[in-house]
Amino acid sequence: MNDYRIASIPGDGIGVDVQIEARKVLDAAAKRFGFGLEWTEFDWSCERYAKTGTMMPEDGIEQLSGFDSILLGAVGFPGVPDHVSLWGLLIPVRRAFQQYVNLRPVRLLPGTTSVLAGRSADELEMVIVRENSEGEYSTLGGRHNSGQASEFALQEAVFTRIGVERIVRYAFELARTRSGRVTSATKSNGIIHTMPFWDEIFAEVAAEYPDVKAELTHIDALAARMVQQPDRLDVVVGSNLFGDILSDLAAAVTGGLGMAPSGNLNPEREHPSMFEAVHGSAPDIAGQGIANPVAQVLAATMMLEHLGETDAATAINAAVEKVLSEGVALTPDLGGKATTAQLGTAIAEAI
Ligand code: NAD
Ligand code: IPM
Ligand code: MN
Repeated sequence: MNDYRIASIPGDGIGVDVQIEARKVLDAAAKRFGFGLEWTEFDWSCERYAKTGTMMPEDGIEQLSGFDSILLGAVGFPGVPDHVSLWGLLIPVRRAFQQYVNLRPVRLLPGTTSVLAGRSADELEMVIVRENSEGEYSTLGGRHNSGQASEFALQEAVFTRIGVERIVRYAFELARTRSGRVTSATKSNGIIHTMPFWDEIFAEVAAEYPDVKAELTHIDALAARMVQQPDRLDVVVGSNLFGDILSDLAAAVTGGLGMAPSGNLNPEREHPSMFEAVHGSAPDIAGQGIANPVAQVLAATMMLEHLGETDAATAINAAVEKVLSEGVALTPDLGGKATTAQLGTAIAEAI
Protein backbone atom coordinates (compact mmCIF):
# COMPACT_ATOMS: atom_id res chain seq x y z
CA MET A 1 0.00 0.00 0.00
CA ASN A 2 1.30 3.44 -0.91
CA ASP A 3 1.20 6.07 1.80
CA TYR A 4 1.39 9.77 1.06
CA ARG A 5 2.24 12.57 3.43
CA ILE A 6 0.13 15.61 2.60
CA ALA A 7 0.46 19.10 4.06
CA SER A 8 -2.96 20.71 4.40
CA ILE A 9 -3.13 24.51 4.61
CA PRO A 10 -6.82 25.54 4.69
CA GLY A 11 -5.93 29.26 4.96
CA ASP A 12 -8.69 31.86 5.11
CA GLY A 13 -12.35 32.41 4.26
CA ILE A 14 -13.88 29.78 1.98
CA GLY A 15 -10.44 28.18 1.70
CA VAL A 16 -11.28 26.53 5.01
CA ASP A 17 -14.79 25.41 3.87
CA VAL A 18 -13.70 23.86 0.58
CA GLN A 19 -10.61 22.21 2.08
CA ILE A 20 -12.79 20.16 4.45
CA GLU A 21 -14.78 18.83 1.48
CA ALA A 22 -11.69 18.06 -0.62
CA ARG A 23 -10.24 16.07 2.29
CA LYS A 24 -13.56 14.25 2.74
CA VAL A 25 -13.51 13.22 -0.93
CA LEU A 26 -9.82 12.26 -0.92
CA ASP A 27 -10.23 10.14 2.21
CA ALA A 28 -13.16 8.32 0.58
CA ALA A 29 -11.06 7.67 -2.54
CA ALA A 30 -8.09 6.48 -0.47
CA LYS A 31 -10.31 4.00 1.36
CA ARG A 32 -11.84 2.67 -1.84
CA PHE A 33 -8.55 2.41 -3.78
CA GLY A 34 -6.38 1.18 -0.91
CA PHE A 35 -3.77 3.87 -0.38
CA GLY A 36 -2.98 5.91 2.71
CA LEU A 37 -3.15 9.68 3.17
CA GLU A 38 -1.39 11.05 6.21
CA TRP A 39 -2.57 14.61 6.72
CA THR A 40 -0.65 17.28 8.63
CA GLU A 41 -2.61 20.48 9.12
CA PHE A 42 -1.01 23.94 9.24
CA ASP A 43 -2.91 26.97 10.58
CA TRP A 44 -0.99 29.40 8.37
CA SER A 45 -3.42 32.20 7.55
CA CYS A 46 -4.35 35.84 8.04
CA GLU A 47 -5.68 34.85 11.46
CA ARG A 48 -2.21 33.61 12.36
CA TYR A 49 -0.76 36.84 10.96
CA ALA A 50 -3.03 38.88 13.23
CA LYS A 51 -1.78 36.93 16.25
CA THR A 52 1.91 36.52 15.45
CA GLY A 53 2.81 39.01 12.72
CA THR A 54 3.69 36.34 10.15
CA MET A 55 1.65 34.15 7.79
CA MET A 56 3.91 31.16 8.41
CA PRO A 57 6.83 30.44 10.74
CA GLU A 58 10.35 31.38 9.71
CA ASP A 59 11.16 27.76 8.88
CA GLY A 60 7.81 27.23 7.10
CA ILE A 61 9.36 26.23 3.77
CA GLU A 62 11.65 23.78 5.52
CA GLN A 63 8.64 22.27 7.32
CA LEU A 64 6.84 21.72 4.02
CA SER A 65 9.83 20.33 2.17
CA GLY A 66 9.42 16.77 3.43
CA PHE A 67 5.82 16.33 2.22
CA ASP A 68 4.75 14.51 -0.93
CA SER A 69 2.31 17.30 -1.82
CA ILE A 70 0.66 20.41 -0.44
CA LEU A 71 -3.10 21.08 -0.60
CA LEU A 72 -3.88 24.75 -0.07
CA GLY A 73 -7.32 26.31 0.49
CA ALA A 74 -6.80 30.01 -0.16
CA VAL A 75 -5.22 32.88 1.71
CA GLY A 76 -6.12 36.55 2.02
CA PHE A 77 -8.66 38.33 4.19
CA PRO A 78 -9.75 41.93 4.79
CA GLY A 79 -7.63 43.43 7.56
CA VAL A 80 -4.36 42.11 6.15
CA PRO A 81 -3.21 43.78 2.91
CA ASP A 82 -3.29 41.24 0.07
CA HIS A 83 0.33 41.80 -0.92
CA VAL A 84 1.32 40.99 2.68
CA SER A 85 -0.69 37.76 2.95
CA LEU A 86 0.17 36.46 -0.49
CA TRP A 87 3.87 37.35 -0.42
CA GLY A 88 3.99 35.89 3.09
CA LEU A 89 2.84 32.42 2.05
CA LEU A 90 1.57 31.54 -1.42
CA ILE A 91 4.24 33.15 -3.58
CA PRO A 92 7.25 32.09 -1.43
CA VAL A 93 6.02 28.46 -1.54
CA ARG A 94 5.65 28.57 -5.33
CA ARG A 95 9.17 29.96 -5.67
CA ALA A 96 11.02 27.96 -3.02
CA PHE A 97 9.76 24.70 -4.51
CA GLN A 98 10.37 25.74 -8.12
CA GLN A 99 6.69 25.28 -8.96
CA TYR A 100 7.21 27.11 -12.21
CA VAL A 101 4.21 25.61 -14.00
CA ASN A 102 0.75 26.69 -12.93
CA LEU A 103 -1.57 24.31 -14.74
CA ARG A 104 -5.21 25.41 -14.85
CA PRO A 105 -7.50 23.12 -16.82
CA VAL A 106 -11.16 24.03 -17.31
CA ARG A 107 -14.02 22.14 -18.92
CA LEU A 108 -17.76 22.72 -19.13
CA LEU A 109 -19.06 19.80 -17.08
CA PRO A 110 -22.39 18.00 -17.49
CA GLY A 111 -25.15 19.52 -15.36
CA THR A 112 -23.57 22.98 -15.40
CA THR A 113 -24.21 25.92 -17.68
CA SER A 114 -21.82 28.30 -19.32
CA VAL A 115 -22.54 32.02 -19.19
CA LEU A 116 -22.10 31.78 -22.94
CA ALA A 117 -25.42 30.90 -24.55
CA GLY A 118 -25.97 27.58 -26.25
CA ARG A 119 -22.90 25.70 -25.08
CA SER A 120 -23.24 22.08 -24.12
CA ALA A 121 -21.14 20.02 -21.74
CA ASP A 122 -17.67 19.05 -22.96
CA GLU A 123 -17.90 21.54 -25.81
CA LEU A 124 -15.63 23.93 -23.96
CA GLU A 125 -12.31 22.62 -22.75
CA MET A 126 -8.97 24.34 -22.45
CA VAL A 127 -5.97 24.60 -20.19
CA ILE A 128 -4.08 27.68 -19.14
CA VAL A 129 -0.35 27.06 -18.72
CA ARG A 130 0.71 29.94 -16.54
CA GLU A 131 4.34 30.88 -15.84
CA ASN A 132 4.49 30.75 -12.05
CA SER A 133 7.92 31.84 -10.87
CA GLU A 134 8.91 35.21 -12.37
CA GLY A 135 7.61 37.79 -14.86
CA GLU A 136 5.44 40.62 -13.63
CA TYR A 137 5.38 39.21 -10.08
CA SER A 138 8.63 40.76 -8.96
CA THR A 139 9.94 42.59 -5.94
CA LEU A 140 12.05 44.91 -8.09
CA GLY A 141 10.99 48.51 -8.04
CA GLY A 142 9.74 50.85 -5.40
CA ARG A 143 7.88 54.01 -4.47
CA HIS A 144 9.56 57.36 -4.97
CA ASN A 145 9.07 61.07 -4.22
CA SER A 146 6.52 60.37 -1.52
CA GLY A 147 4.23 63.30 -0.80
CA GLN A 148 5.31 65.25 -3.88
CA ALA A 149 3.39 65.97 -7.06
CA SER A 150 6.05 63.92 -8.86
CA GLU A 151 5.38 60.81 -6.77
CA PHE A 152 5.60 57.56 -8.72
CA ALA A 153 5.81 53.79 -8.33
CA LEU A 154 8.06 51.61 -10.43
CA GLN A 155 7.52 47.88 -10.92
CA GLU A 156 9.97 45.83 -12.95
CA ALA A 157 9.16 42.54 -14.66
CA VAL A 158 11.81 39.86 -14.98
CA PHE A 159 11.73 37.36 -17.84
CA THR A 160 14.69 34.96 -18.00
CA ARG A 161 15.53 32.77 -20.98
CA ILE A 162 15.42 29.68 -18.78
CA GLY A 163 12.09 30.73 -17.25
CA VAL A 164 10.32 31.48 -20.53
CA GLU A 165 11.75 28.50 -22.40
CA ARG A 166 10.73 25.93 -19.80
CA ILE A 167 7.12 27.09 -19.55
CA VAL A 168 6.73 27.32 -23.32
CA ARG A 169 8.26 23.87 -23.73
CA TYR A 170 5.87 22.48 -21.11
CA ALA A 171 2.94 23.90 -23.14
CA PHE A 172 4.17 22.27 -26.36
CA GLU A 173 4.70 18.91 -24.67
CA LEU A 174 1.20 19.13 -23.20
CA ALA A 175 -0.30 20.06 -26.59
CA ARG A 176 1.15 16.85 -28.05
CA THR A 177 -1.01 14.89 -25.60
CA ARG A 178 -4.13 16.96 -26.40
CA SER A 179 -5.23 18.87 -29.50
CA GLY A 180 -1.82 19.66 -30.96
CA ARG A 181 -2.45 23.41 -30.70
CA VAL A 182 -0.72 26.05 -28.55
CA THR A 183 -1.77 29.69 -28.30
CA SER A 184 0.65 32.13 -26.71
CA ALA A 185 -0.63 35.23 -24.95
CA THR A 186 1.61 38.15 -25.86
CA LYS A 187 1.58 41.95 -25.82
CA SER A 188 4.67 42.63 -27.90
CA ASN A 189 2.92 45.51 -29.66
CA GLY A 190 2.85 47.53 -26.42
CA ILE A 191 5.41 46.07 -24.04
CA ILE A 192 8.64 46.49 -25.92
CA HIS A 193 11.31 44.60 -23.95
CA THR A 194 9.92 41.56 -22.21
CA MET A 195 7.20 40.57 -24.67
CA PRO A 196 9.27 40.52 -27.89
CA PHE A 197 11.74 38.38 -25.88
CA TRP A 198 8.87 36.03 -24.93
CA ASP A 199 7.74 35.85 -28.60
CA GLU A 200 11.27 35.11 -29.81
CA ILE A 201 11.68 32.20 -27.41
CA PHE A 202 8.18 30.94 -28.23
CA ALA A 203 9.14 30.88 -31.93
CA GLU A 204 12.41 29.05 -31.20
CA VAL A 205 10.64 26.35 -29.19
CA ALA A 206 7.80 26.15 -31.75
CA ALA A 207 10.38 25.32 -34.43
CA GLU A 208 11.25 22.17 -32.46
CA TYR A 209 7.61 21.05 -32.56
CA PRO A 210 6.61 21.11 -36.25
CA ASP A 211 3.73 18.75 -35.42
CA VAL A 212 2.15 21.30 -33.06
CA LYS A 213 0.23 24.28 -34.45
CA ALA A 214 1.61 27.40 -32.75
CA GLU A 215 0.01 30.82 -32.74
CA LEU A 216 0.73 34.15 -31.07
CA THR A 217 -2.23 36.27 -30.01
CA HIS A 218 -2.25 39.63 -28.30
CA ILE A 219 -3.70 39.25 -24.82
CA ASP A 220 -6.44 41.83 -25.46
CA ALA A 221 -7.67 40.09 -28.60
CA LEU A 222 -7.25 36.72 -26.86
CA ALA A 223 -9.56 37.84 -24.04
CA ALA A 224 -12.26 38.64 -26.61
CA ARG A 225 -11.66 35.36 -28.41
CA MET A 226 -11.97 33.41 -25.20
CA VAL A 227 -15.54 34.69 -24.93
CA GLN A 228 -16.52 34.63 -28.59
CA GLN A 229 -14.76 31.53 -29.90
CA PRO A 230 -13.52 29.57 -26.88
CA ASP A 231 -13.77 26.28 -28.78
CA ARG A 232 -10.87 27.41 -30.97
CA LEU A 233 -8.54 27.42 -27.96
CA ASP A 234 -6.93 24.50 -26.21
CA VAL A 235 -3.49 24.97 -24.63
CA VAL A 236 -2.97 28.65 -23.81
CA VAL A 237 0.44 29.67 -22.47
CA GLY A 238 1.03 33.00 -20.79
CA SER A 239 3.24 34.92 -18.42
CA ASN A 240 2.53 35.03 -14.69
CA LEU A 241 0.12 37.99 -14.86
CA PHE A 242 -1.47 37.19 -18.22
CA GLY A 243 -1.96 33.57 -17.14
CA ASP A 244 -3.54 34.73 -13.88
CA ILE A 245 -6.10 36.90 -15.65
CA LEU A 246 -6.83 34.38 -18.40
CA SER A 247 -7.42 31.58 -15.89
CA ASP A 248 -10.26 33.44 -14.17
CA LEU A 249 -11.71 34.29 -17.59
CA ALA A 250 -11.45 30.67 -18.75
CA ALA A 251 -13.12 29.57 -15.50
CA ALA A 252 -15.91 32.08 -15.99
CA VAL A 253 -16.77 30.96 -19.53
CA THR A 254 -16.82 27.29 -18.55
CA GLY A 255 -18.57 26.76 -15.20
CA GLY A 256 -17.50 29.68 -13.01
CA LEU A 257 -14.78 30.18 -10.42
CA GLY A 258 -16.22 27.46 -8.21
CA MET A 259 -15.26 24.85 -10.82
CA ALA A 260 -11.64 25.67 -11.75
CA PRO A 261 -8.70 23.77 -10.20
CA SER A 262 -5.04 24.59 -10.32
CA GLY A 263 -1.75 22.77 -9.84
CA ASN A 264 1.49 24.55 -8.96
CA LEU A 265 3.87 21.99 -10.39
CA ASN A 266 7.54 21.29 -9.95
CA PRO A 267 7.80 19.09 -13.06
CA GLU A 268 11.20 17.71 -12.05
CA ARG A 269 9.66 16.43 -8.80
CA GLU A 270 12.64 17.60 -6.79
CA HIS A 271 10.26 19.48 -4.48
CA PRO A 272 6.62 19.09 -3.45
CA SER A 273 3.99 20.50 -5.79
CA MET A 274 1.02 22.45 -4.44
CA PHE A 275 -2.63 22.13 -5.44
CA GLU A 276 -5.38 24.72 -4.91
CA ALA A 277 -8.46 26.15 -6.58
CA VAL A 278 -8.05 29.07 -9.00
CA HIS A 279 -10.37 31.15 -6.84
CA GLY A 280 -9.46 32.99 -3.65
CA SER A 281 -10.86 33.15 -0.12
CA ALA A 282 -14.08 34.93 -1.23
CA PRO A 283 -14.68 37.05 1.90
CA ASP A 284 -18.09 38.03 0.47
CA ILE A 285 -19.45 34.50 1.04
CA ALA A 286 -17.07 33.22 3.73
CA GLY A 287 -18.64 31.47 6.71
CA GLN A 288 -22.01 31.04 4.98
CA GLY A 289 -21.51 27.42 3.95
CA ILE A 290 -22.43 28.15 0.33
CA ALA A 291 -19.06 28.03 -1.45
CA ASN A 292 -18.80 25.54 -4.29
CA PRO A 293 -16.21 22.91 -3.28
CA VAL A 294 -15.81 21.40 -6.77
CA ALA A 295 -12.75 23.46 -7.76
CA GLN A 296 -10.93 22.31 -4.64
CA VAL A 297 -12.04 18.70 -5.14
CA LEU A 298 -10.74 18.81 -8.72
CA ALA A 299 -7.47 20.33 -7.46
CA ALA A 300 -7.20 17.39 -5.07
CA THR A 301 -7.80 15.11 -8.07
CA MET A 302 -4.91 16.77 -9.89
CA MET A 303 -2.83 16.03 -6.79
CA LEU A 304 -3.71 12.34 -6.97
CA GLU A 305 -2.79 12.25 -10.66
CA HIS A 306 0.54 13.86 -9.79
CA LEU A 307 1.11 11.24 -7.09
CA GLY A 308 0.33 8.46 -9.57
CA GLU A 309 -3.07 7.43 -8.14
CA THR A 310 -4.76 7.74 -11.52
CA ASP A 311 -7.60 5.25 -10.90
CA ALA A 312 -8.68 7.18 -7.82
CA ALA A 313 -8.43 10.47 -9.72
CA THR A 314 -10.58 9.08 -12.54
CA ALA A 315 -13.15 7.86 -10.02
CA ILE A 316 -13.38 11.28 -8.35
CA ASN A 317 -13.82 12.99 -11.71
CA ALA A 318 -16.61 10.55 -12.56
CA ALA A 319 -18.23 11.13 -9.14
CA VAL A 320 -18.16 14.91 -9.70
CA GLU A 321 -19.78 14.49 -13.12
CA LYS A 322 -22.44 12.14 -11.74
CA VAL A 323 -23.39 14.45 -8.87
CA LEU A 324 -23.49 17.54 -11.08
CA SER A 325 -25.59 15.74 -13.72
CA GLU A 326 -28.11 14.59 -11.11
CA GLY A 327 -28.48 18.22 -10.08
CA VAL A 328 -29.74 17.50 -6.56
CA ALA A 329 -26.82 18.85 -4.55
CA LEU A 330 -25.83 22.04 -6.37
CA THR A 331 -24.53 25.11 -4.55
CA PRO A 332 -26.09 28.54 -5.27
CA ASP A 333 -23.45 29.51 -7.87
CA LEU A 334 -24.65 26.48 -9.90
CA GLY A 335 -28.29 27.44 -9.46
CA GLY A 336 -29.04 25.12 -6.52
CA LYS A 337 -29.68 25.42 -2.81
CA ALA A 338 -27.19 22.89 -1.42
CA THR A 339 -24.53 23.74 1.13
CA THR A 340 -20.79 23.28 0.62
CA ALA A 341 -20.91 20.21 2.88
CA GLN A 342 -23.90 18.66 1.08
CA LEU A 343 -22.17 18.88 -2.31
CA GLY A 344 -18.90 17.57 -0.85
CA THR A 345 -20.64 14.66 0.86
CA ALA A 346 -22.58 13.79 -2.31
CA ILE A 347 -19.31 13.57 -4.27
CA ALA A 348 -17.60 11.49 -1.56
CA GLU A 349 -20.56 9.09 -1.48
CA ALA A 350 -20.57 8.74 -5.28
CA ILE A 351 -17.03 7.37 -5.38
P1 NAD B 1 -12.18 35.34 -5.17
O1 NAD B 1 -11.83 34.29 -6.17
O2 NAD B 1 -11.97 34.99 -3.75
O3 NAD B 1 -13.72 35.75 -5.37
C1 NAD B 1 -14.23 36.30 -6.57
C2 NAD B 1 -15.75 36.09 -6.66
O4 NAD B 1 -16.03 34.72 -6.96
C3 NAD B 1 -16.49 36.38 -5.35
O5 NAD B 1 -17.72 36.98 -5.62
C4 NAD B 1 -16.70 35.00 -4.74
O6 NAD B 1 -17.81 34.90 -3.90
C5 NAD B 1 -16.85 34.11 -5.98
N1 NAD B 1 -16.31 32.76 -5.71
C6 NAD B 1 -15.01 32.41 -5.64
N2 NAD B 1 -14.88 31.11 -5.35
C7 NAD B 1 -16.12 30.62 -5.23
C8 NAD B 1 -16.65 29.34 -4.92
N3 NAD B 1 -15.86 28.29 -4.68
N4 NAD B 1 -18.00 29.19 -4.86
C9 NAD B 1 -18.82 30.22 -5.10
N5 NAD B 1 -18.37 31.46 -5.41
C10 NAD B 1 -17.05 31.66 -5.47
O7 NAD B 1 -11.36 36.63 -5.60
P2 NAD B 1 -11.11 38.02 -4.84
O8 NAD B 1 -12.39 38.49 -4.25
O9 NAD B 1 -10.38 38.85 -5.79
O10 NAD B 1 -10.10 37.69 -3.68
C11 NAD B 1 -10.46 37.47 -2.32
C12 NAD B 1 -9.20 37.22 -1.51
O11 NAD B 1 -8.59 35.99 -1.92
C13 NAD B 1 -8.12 38.28 -1.67
O12 NAD B 1 -7.49 38.45 -0.45
C14 NAD B 1 -7.19 37.67 -2.68
O13 NAD B 1 -5.89 38.20 -2.64
C15 NAD B 1 -7.22 36.23 -2.26
N6 NAD B 1 -6.86 35.23 -3.27
C16 NAD B 1 -6.15 34.15 -2.83
C17 NAD B 1 -5.84 33.12 -3.71
C18 NAD B 1 -5.07 31.96 -3.20
O14 NAD B 1 -4.74 31.87 -2.04
N7 NAD B 1 -4.76 31.02 -4.02
C19 NAD B 1 -6.29 33.19 -5.02
C20 NAD B 1 -7.03 34.30 -5.44
C21 NAD B 1 -7.31 35.33 -4.55
C1 IPM C 1 -4.03 33.02 -8.07
C2 IPM C 1 -4.14 34.27 -7.23
C3 IPM C 1 -2.77 34.76 -6.78
C4 IPM C 1 -1.92 35.03 -8.01
C5 IPM C 1 -2.81 36.02 -5.92
C6 IPM C 1 -3.75 35.87 -4.78
C7 IPM C 1 -1.44 36.46 -5.50
O1 IPM C 1 -4.84 35.25 -7.92
O2 IPM C 1 -3.46 32.03 -7.60
O3 IPM C 1 -4.53 33.02 -9.20
O4 IPM C 1 -2.05 36.08 -8.64
O5 IPM C 1 -1.10 34.18 -8.33
MN1 MN D 1 -5.74 34.57 -9.77
